[in-house]
Amino acid sequence: MDLLDITNKLHDESRQGEVFETLQSANQQNSKKFYIESYGCAMNFSDSEIVASILQGEGFATTRNFEEADLILINTCSIREKAELTIRKRLTEFRVTKRKNGTLIGVLGCMAERLKSKLLEEEKLVDLVVGPDAYRSLPGLIQEAETGQKAVNVLLSRDETYSDIAPVRLDSNGVCAFVSIMRGCNNMCSFCVVPFTRGRERSRDAHSIFAEAKELFNKGYKEVTLLGQNVDSYYWIDENNNTTITFSKLLEMVALISPELRVRFSTSHPKDITDDVLFTIAKYENICNYIHLPVQSGSSKILQLMNRTYTREWYIAKINRIKEIIPNCGISTDIIVGFCNETEEDYLETYSLMQYCKYDLAYMYFYSERPGTLAAKRYEDNVPETEKKRRLQHIIDLHRIHSLESMQRDVNKTFKVLIEGNSKKSDAHWFGRTDHNKVVIFPKANATLQKGDYTNVFVHECTAGTLLGKLVN
Ligand code: SAH
Ligand code: SF4
Ligand code: F3S
Repeated sequence: MDLLDITNKLHDESRQGEVFETLQSANQQNSKKFYIESYGCAMNFSDSEIVASILQGEGFATTRNFEEADLILINTCSIREKAELTIRKRLTEFRVTKRKNGTLIGVLGCMAERLKSKLLEEEKLVDLVVGPDAYRSLPGLIQEAETGQKAVNVLLSRDETYSDIAPVRLDSNGVCAFVSIMRGCNNMCSFCVVPFTRGRERSRDAHSIFAEAKELFNKGYKEVTLLGQNVDSYYWIDENNNTTITFSKLLEMVALISPELRVRFSTSHPKDITDDVLFTIAKYENICNYIHLPVQSGSSKILQLMNRTYTREWYIAKINRIKEIIPNCGISTDIIVGFCNETEEDYLETYSLMQYCKYDLAYMYFYSERPGTLAAKRYEDNVPETEKKRRLQHIIDLHRIHSLESMQRDVNKTFKVLIEGNSKKSDAHWFGRTDHNKVVIFPKANATLQKGDYTNVFVHECTAGTLLGKLVN
């Protein structure tokens, strides 16, 4: 476990883990079974639900035990070198099962896209390599692999959004769900592999997003998170009545499904988030007052090298604007230290920006050069690893103070909490979240509440990652 893992552990109940076994209660009488495991960002977890839907349509059942599967799928992430190493290690663990049972092994997602057929040379046990835009071809590829051939499809598409596929909810608590609103990314942040692994940005049909969210609500879900690499550039033209739907309009459409449906979204880009979006968040009580606004660096020089297209001052002005329009807005971020040419001075600017923003939550990384990216081509990865790690530890320590302060500010206050299920540690306690996405644990106290209900909870205590409370009558 590295430093980053330790920090993220503090919030492990409030974010999907890096590794997350996805599963679904199996229709056991189906003959063939598949097992799927997802890594990386929420988009990947959401994609696995599309894959599950495609495979169920082909008569496959899901299993949570890879040893009894006919097909093992691993939906992969390439964002940092470590993410890929984790997947390589996991693949070796599947080797024994493959030898014993002849199980087919498929690599999906960003690593499949990045390495393409090279992956077949490097990982001899892999039978299928399928990129994020090629999941519709899975049934044909599986048939090919069943005849002993290696099967690859890594074509990226300009228009695939899987909008007509109803995702099969995997490992769902029946309360919260992801809804993918767009795919790909047109930004060219110089450190980032995503534009290469996920292709051009495209927005999904707004009516299908609305219909999916409504259907979820009708089934008893109470929270949707709208997903995209850069949600603020969502843009869709309704050709029937010649209207354009922007992200703020889409947010409003989804919020209007019901005041009982909480709406979250991720990720916003500081250059693209508009006042319209902020006013829409402020207007609707059920759109959570919480924005993930990755800054990456506090130094304008580094931001320029990163090709983030904003400066330190622009970012600070954005934060101020958010606080002006949504006074009580929770803000989280992503930060990279040790990017090419980052000096001590540059890095201290990131530190001071954190002191200014006092983020409720921050995901912090040290720079990991990714082959093929602009930074890999143009700049030297010239901050030594020990120095990267020192800088990372320093900002992790600072953030720990801010996140604890953020938790402590909530003590002695009452919050509307959406109950997501039992506390992991005790069936006598509920687990839920506030509007600010903070985890709250509180005793059930014989009240007739159930999963998916909203209730008011008075917070009397906190730890670094959890609020502890009691029901308010
Ligand atoms: N679309 C989102 C982020 C996607 S990747 C955005 O624009 O913010 C999630 C985070 O991983 C990024 O915000 C960045 O902080 C981190 N990241 C991306 N590439 C990285 C790299 N090469 N090394 C270290 N961290 C990286
Ligand atoms: Fe990567 Fe930048 Fe696109 Fe985010 S906005 S996915 S960091 S290129
Ligand atoms: Fe990883 Fe691909 Fe997401 S690289 S972070 S799984 S878009």
